Amino acid sequence: MRILIAGGDGFCGWPTSLHLSAAGHEVVLIDNLMRRRWDEELHSGSLTPIAELQQRVAVWQQYSGRSITAEIVDLTDEGQLFEVIARVRPEATVHFAEQSSAPYSMIDASHAVATQVNNVVGTLNLLFAIRDFAPDCHLVKLGTMGEYGTPDIDIEEGYIEIEHNGRCDVLPYPKQPGSFYHLSKVHDSDNILFACRTWGLRATDLNQGIVYNVQTEHTAAHPGLVNRYDYDAVFGTVLNRFCVQTALGGPLTVYGEGGQTRGFIDLRDTVRCIELAIETPPPAGQMRVMNQFTQQFSVAELAALVAKVAARKGIEVEIRKVGNPRVERERHYYKAAHSALVNLGLKPHLMSEETIERLISIAIEHRGRARKETILPSIRWRDGGAMHSPVRVDGEASGEAADRLEATMRWRRGDSAAAGFARGRMG
Ligand SMILES: NC(=O)c1ccc[n+]([C@@H]2O[C@H](COP(=O)([O-])OP(=O)(O)OC[C@H]3O[C@@H](n4cnc5c(N)ncnc54)[C@H](O)[C@@H]3O)[C@@H](O)[C@H]2O)c1
Repeated sequence: MRILIAGGDGFCGWPTSLHLSAAGHEVVLIDNLMRRRWDEELHSGSLTPIAELQQRVAVWQQYSGRSITAEIVDLTDEGQLFEVIARVRPEATVHFAEQSSAPYSMIDASHAVATQVNNVVGTLNLLFAIRDFAPDCHLVKLGTMGEYGTPDIDIEEGYIEIEHNGRCDVLPYPKQPGSFYHLSKVHDSDNILFACRTWGLRATDLNQGIVYNVQTEHTAAHPGLVNRYDYDAVFGTVLNRFCVQTALGGPLTVYGEGGQTRGFIDLRDTVRCIELAIETPPPAGQMRVMNQFTQQFSVAELAALVAKVAARKGIEVEIRKVGNPRVERERHYYKAAHSALVNLGLKPHLMSEETIERLISIAIEHRGRARKETILPSIRWRDGGAMHSPVRVDGEASGEAADRLEATMRWRRGDSAAAGFARGRMG
């Protein structure tokens, strides 16, 4: 199949590109490399050294004998995107290409606007490009479980049957997202549903849980194919961050009570879920929704699990509660359906001590590259104020941490490059 992968240079997009290419598909990867620029803006970066995009693709060709075409395309640039869709005429498009961090979207007005413009405009352009140039193309879009929030009832897969005043209908599941990033995903879902209903497009909205692990068999096969390993407070996901904190001698920092419960998925299952979705396109006019996670855990449970595996490796780490920068319930009911992908054939890699141990080992191998000062949260959700803990956790302020606080204050005054970025995109 001819598959376009948008956001293929990112954490999920790169291993998915390799997986689909290895499975024999013709893969065209597009990305505007914004993620690498956001790293520079935040003075953070992948713990593992990752090759430049064109280098990665060349290594893949050498290693596997298969080729991936990689192009620099920005989804918010209508002309660029329309040209590539018209030329490639993909049979399936996998859309990862979004600003993917909730904390980033909560920094200030510029970052909230940049996030929503990037994500909503990019997805809207893609919908129009598919309508006009590849109307049979199956859009596989990455949403997030964070779109649902934490309601006091069971979470379904996208839709819920509601009885009201004696009448009954199946309607989109109510959404209570927790950040401007999550809201951008909700807006995307509404736009996709509308495009399917109105133009007869076919789409799968994959509400993905929090991804852990960093390797697939293909990214582990050659140093030039290595995947990102994010651990900072803005882009790092919780389990991976705990493993890096372990490699650095701890503590494992839990936000608030740690009772926050979420769905989790191993990266190896992410790539398989995308493949399963592509193999089973929904009929024209339908937006299918599947919850893409395999297990749920609370943050405190994960911290305890990582500490246990660390102890087995002879590393004693403290679990420390820190102030919660987010506005979220720290104890709550959580039960979310996730059978659709299993019914399609997913055989989950469940959370294992071996996976955690490998993540810790990779972190130990690369710990010299870690920027400790990026690990603790620096932005409060409630008022956008800077948290002071990043400069205090080790007892004294590091120069770089102080720079980050200063940068935060500059963001708030609106004189950052990022503010310019947001204004530029709004034209
Ligand atoms: N990683 C997770 O735990 C997780 C969980 C749930 C959902 N998701 C979603 O999955 C998708 C992929 O996440 P990820 O962790 O790989 O993120 P990532 O930031 O590593 O990758 C996103 C990629 O998209 C590119 N991109 C962003 N905006 C673009 C644009 N306008 N045009 C072209 N390229 C653009 C970036 O440069 C980057 O390479 C995102 O939509 C994210 O919201 C991720």
